[in-house]
Amino acid sequence: MSAERSGATSTAPKSQGSAARGYPRAVTWIGGVDGFLRLLDQTALPEKVVYRDCRDPREVWDAIRTLCVRGAPAIGIAAAYGVVLVTAQRRHAEPQRCIDEVCDYLATARPTAVNLFYALDRMRRLGRRCLGESRPFEKLREALLAEADAIFKEDLAMCRAIGETGAALIRDGFGILTHCNAGALATSDYGTALSCLFVAAEQGRRFHVFVDETRPLLQGARLTTWELQQRGIPCTLICDSAAATIMRSGRVQMVVTGADRIAANGDTANKIGTYGLAVLAEAHGIPFYVAAPSSTFDFDITSGDAIPIEQRDPEEVTRGFGRVIAPAGIRVENPAFDVTPAKRIRGIITEVGLIEPVDRETITKRLRGHPSGPETAEGQGTSP
Ligand code: MRU
Repeated sequence: MSAERSGATSTAPKSQGSAARGYPRAVTWIGGVDGFLRLLDQTALPEKVVYRDCRDPREVWDAIRTLCVRGAPAIGIAAAYGVVLVTAQRRHAEPQRCIDEVCDYLATARPTAVNLFYALDRMRRLGRRCLGESRPFEKLREALLAEADAIFKEDLAMCRAIGETGAALIRDGFGILTHCNAGALATSDYGTALSCLFVAAEQGRRFHVFVDETRPLLQGARLTTWELQQRGIPCTLICDSAAATIMRSGRVQMVVTGADRIAANGDTANKIGTYGLAVLAEAHGIPFYVAAPSSTFDFDITSGDAIPIEQRDPEEVTRGFGRVIAPAGIRVENPAFDVTPAKRIRGIITEVGLIEPVDRETITKRLRGHPSGPETAEGQGTSP
């Protein structure tokens, strides 16, 4: 069910982010334990602002798979609320089995963004803890909703802190190139890479953003330019293949992207094309930064070689957005992500500050003792 420009209220936290400024939010829980999940349908942007309401985990799975909700942190938050939805439907089923089953199921929606597994792992462990304490079913449901809300709120705080860290790297007159969409739409709010730009703009810095269109699904063209335009930040949309020549023209002083999963050694998976940008940035002497919350680190994976890369439908390449652009039967490879080796990343912009240099030792030192840090992250990264 869709609700165009719905004005319904939510329990989601208020902030000076998107909601407070009248921009639509990607993920909103509406109501209490018997509520539902409202997703901004990102497949319809920028043409239409429409919402998809999910009352069943299968609808959440489908929304994640079809990129109605997308971006690593937003996927994790949506999945956490998807677990809450199952408890409304199966009040009399064995609760832990029901939670385990729905977590296993939602974990199959997409393989690369570790935030999905991080969030589901938290929901699963919370369920175990409540049932171990013999809490009544209604209390369990309340606790699950509180945990999903906590994942949302923590992401909000992390994204804002990432923005503060990243804004300090941006100087007046900079040209900044970004890829895909790592904005408010991809998170609870603010975003990661775009949060750095939003905070720098709030602080009065003047800069220009070059936005890769991001083939084949055009998250840069459809979503990033939309977010920048809403906030009045000057930007230019470019074809992915124009990045090299624009860098060579001297108009880019910094590249910043998001991340879907960062291995313990700093190798980073992000939208296909990111690796190429990092190589180009190095060739032109331009610093390449990744912006990501600690929930995007996967300490169970020692290097980027072990990051599962999603392969998507060939039709996204051959007939994207309705037009046939390749001959029938053509062989297609459509990896949704690639891995940028740590050595090509100047720094990782996180909520605990800038991690630089990007290597195992520095990452471990900076995130040790953190809730999703090296020795506390249990079960994270257990993708299917
Ligand atoms: O396929 P998508 O649109 O989910 O890919 C999203 C990205 O690659 C983002 O850069 C990443 O998830 C970081 S979002 C803060």
